[in-house]
Amino acid sequence: MELFETSKSILQEIQLDRVKFPNVRLLVKRDDLIHSEVSGNKWRKLKYNIELVNHQKKDGILTFGGAYSNHLLAVAAACKLAGLKSIGVVRGEELTSDSNENLKRCAELGMELLFVSRESYDERNEKSCQEGWKESHPSYLLVPEGGSNYYGLVGCQEICKELPVEMDHLFVAQGTTTTSCGLLVGLGENTTLHVVPVLKGFDAKAEMRKQLFPFLIDEETITEQLDRVEVHPEFHFGGYGKWNQELIDFISDCKTEYDLPLDKIYTGKAFYALMDWLEKQQFQTPQTIVFLHTGGLQNG
Ligand SMILES: Cc1ncc(COP(=O)(O)O)c(C=O)c1O
Repeated sequence: MELFETSKSILQEIQLDRVKFPNVRLLVKRDDLIHSEVSGNKWRKLKYNIELVNHQKKDGILTFGGAYSNHLLAVAAACKLAGLKSIGVVRGEELTSDSNENLKRCAELGMELLFVSRESYDERNEKSCQEGWKESHPSYLLVPEGGSNYYGLVGCQEICKELPVEMDHLFVAQGTTTTSCGLLVGLGENTTLHVVPVLKGFDAKAEMRKQLFPFLIDEETITEQLDRVEVHPEFHFGGYGKWNQELIDFISDCKTEYDLPLDKIYTGKAFYALMDWLEKQQFQTPQTIVFLHTGGLQNG
């Protein structure tokens, strides 16, 4: 498979009840199908980071994550595919590469794992800490946790090229906001972007504003763009990494009824928000609604 090829990401039409949901065409952009280990938005976020490593003739990527991080696994797998080295700085000095299946797989893929204390991990984004990593590993590109940097955003922007132009609404789960900001920058002006934060008490628009600043430069343009965003803040199910039986049952029903696999950390919550919103709408004209499946199925 060619690196960063996305042809496996199909648009799946969801067969909704036509009487209950008149005038609705619901499509799911299945980025989860792109690759089993570099799943969904991870593939998009890493593409230009890896290009940069090649362009700068560096050896690989140094990045950060928790013991169960999908991002670490994605970096390990993508670097292996690209013939590059990878280093994962992992939160928790008591851990080893045998501590869980995720870390085991990262090590198997050739990722060098460096275990650090929680205190030093929490300082990872501070300038002095970043400088320290750059100095000790000059041949590595530093990529923040979750692939949340400028190049990650550019990669997510490209998803828009693979979505139908006539799309009226696009739904996406939100963590760091990199994916949603990339989509917003790339979307046609008639599409409303619906974001579903999975964190409790998350100020989605303020976080997006920070992320968009290097792209859109002035506050006025950012405000104009953010006017096209609708936030659905009440679907975090208790916060990051939390869920309840209702969500589990919903996920199981989606698999049975629509043949749509979802995870309980991100996509399950976002698709739940979409269906809840859809039930409250009464469209007078035909609408095309797209849900971006950002992957995460390793989360179960
Ligand atoms: C499966 C999945 N979906 C959605 C997101 C949220 O994306 P972002 O952090 O870019 O907002 C993440 C986090 O990276 C994720 O792992």
